[in-house]
Amino acid sequence: MCGIVGYVGTRPAVDVLVRGLKRLEYRGYDSTGVAFETPRGILIEKSEGKLERVESLMGANPNADRSNSVCGIGHTRWATHGKPTTTNAHPHRAGSVVLVHNGIIENYREIKSELLKLGYKPESETDSELFGYLVLEEMKAGQSFVNSVRRAFKKIDGACSFVVMDEKHPGVIVGARNGSPLVLAKDPQGGAILASDAQPILEYTKDVYFLENGEVAIISPQGVEIQSLETGARITPAFVTLNWSVDQIDKGGYPHYMLKEIYEQPSALVDTFNSSLDRSRSEPFVLAPHKGVDLLMNAKELTLIACGTSYYSSMIGKYWLENYGEIPVNVDFASEYRYRSSVLREQSVLVGVSQSGETADTLAVLRELKKKNVPTLGLTNVRGSTISREAGGTFFTYAGPEIGVAATKSFTTQLATFLMWAGALREKHKKGSGQKLFEEMIQLPHLLKSYLEGDNGVQKKIRSIATQVQNKKGFFFIGRGPSFPIALEGALKLKEIAYIHAEGYAAGELKHGPIAMIDESMVVVVLAPKDHWREKTISNLEEVKARGATIIGVGDANDSHLKDLSHHFVALPAIENEDLSVFPLAAVVQLLSYELAVLKGTDVDQPRNLAKSVTVE
Ligand code: M6R
Repeated sequence: MCGIVGYVGTRPAVDVLVRGLKRLEYRGYDSTGVAFETPRGILIEKSEGKLERVESLMGANPNADRSNSVCGIGHTRWATHGKPTTTNAHPHRAGSVVLVHNGIIENYREIKSELLKLGYKPESETDSELFGYLVLEEMKAGQSFVNSVRRAFKKIDGACSFVVMDEKHPGVIVGARNGSPLVLAKDPQGGAILASDAQPILEYTKDVYFLENGEVAIISPQGVEIQSLETGARITPAFVTLNWSVDQIDKGGYPHYMLKEIYEQPSALVDTFNSSLDRSRSEPFVLAPHKGVDLLMNAKELTLIACGTSYYSSMIGKYWLENYGEIPVNVDFASEYRYRSSVLREQSVLVGVSQSGETADTLAVLRELKKKNVPTLGLTNVRGSTISREAGGTFFTYAGPEIGVAATKSFTTQLATFLMWAGALREKHKKGSGQKLFEEMIQLPHLLKSYLEGDNGVQKKIRSIATQVQNKKGFFFIGRGPSFPIALEGALKLKEIAYIHAEGYAAGELKHGPIAMIDESMVVVVLAPKDHWREKTISNLEEVKARGATIIGVGDANDSHLKDLSHHFVALPAIENEDLSVFPLAAVVQLLSYELAVLKGTDVDQPRNLAKSVTVE
């Protein structure tokens, strides 16, 4: 989950590292550090806490060697082994070797006891530092720097990547990947940059190379070289050109990335529709051809595997795929599916759904099933991500970079993709039967845009409600049908960014236990669009109302019954196909958690204990 940057070239290295780490802080922000070459060896500056701590340390201690350095590495940490202290912060030093690490060394206990026997005294509690001593041992035995990194890396079990410098080899940085991502690019001004993802690179170039597992990258002022970890043989990297731009990774005037990303949902939907469909065809739901499309269209059953918000989008996907696409769909948490024996039908296709494309559990299921010859698909927002490269076929969402840890536009673009799949399968069963759904679908971006940005933009209303309920003890979100996963998503968001206890429930389940919790100190958010389930949800609401909770009703603008039962009411936009109400409903729960988080003064974009891509189990 940590973020890594390495740079060597002609620019001030620390500047490149700090700018890069700012872009990577979403991966973890417990502690931060940089190491850079100086005429007196490699200097390390690091601290517990966010990057700004290291920046202020540097500001208080100007240093010409730091400003003149053109080679260095940096790291932002999400603690696994050892607390988030300055000693445990990366970079770590082992003699002349200095390194940063992302991932986990599973056999670190064995390695540590060997190293202790050899007389090494690791300073930190991390598994990462140990790798430096392994490299050092290889160099002591006469191996070159690059071969030492290769040989040391082969002794390690677990998914990880390292970026390493050595004082005896100035101007050279070696990166190795097995599991955790590493991206490489040549700096057009000379030299090269390595990072955990492409975001720190985009301001210099869009031509990048995603290292494969088992590859080693050597960067120097002369450029880049890729080798096989196993044999050391040279590999010719196939660079790809990314279509993300630097503007997309700035806040664009919004106070938080999360808010910007909520407002970007209409355009993210347009981009996802335009890029996923073959727009040269007039028939509805013709998916732009690629390997994944055949796998999808020939499947007899789909098994959607995901975590967190991606799991909730998959639950909604199931409704649509079964309802419109008439295909059986299973949905499971990757972390659960992984450790149970499952039975798949003939021609079942496993789909790993993950905005980051790096989530460890989702990836593990995909790999496991691939080994069993089950056809696999990926659905992700990140080109070049591990899931996108390992799945048998990959569909992309076109949400653009999502920086806020809370998933927003990646969620709604996943929904859009499931809707397109459902429509395409419907058309497969009967040509023309998807036309109406298609017309309803393509109105969504406009509908959502007016809902968010029109004269009476919904955010203002939600902010006023949030102000009135901010001191309540806890929240229940309830809904039925496709609104149920939105209830789960609303509760997740509120916990995640506002640290308020919240639960999402299928409305019909309240009376089977949780209703005992309901009293005046609680808020119940009732998601009741004018759909097939509305009436039942309303009767569940009556039960809650009698127990004194504050009710926030979310439903059709003309639903006077729901309005009468609610203390606060959020009107949904008029929508022809009520199945599609999940899009504005998603915006409502996202904005409610956002406004409550702002009122609580939490760190909205980087909530505590979390990271954007969860690359550890
Ligand atoms: O990258 P993924 O979609 O695989 O991530 C899965 C979850 O970690 C993620 O959705 C998480 O729940 C979000 N931060 C929620 O907003």
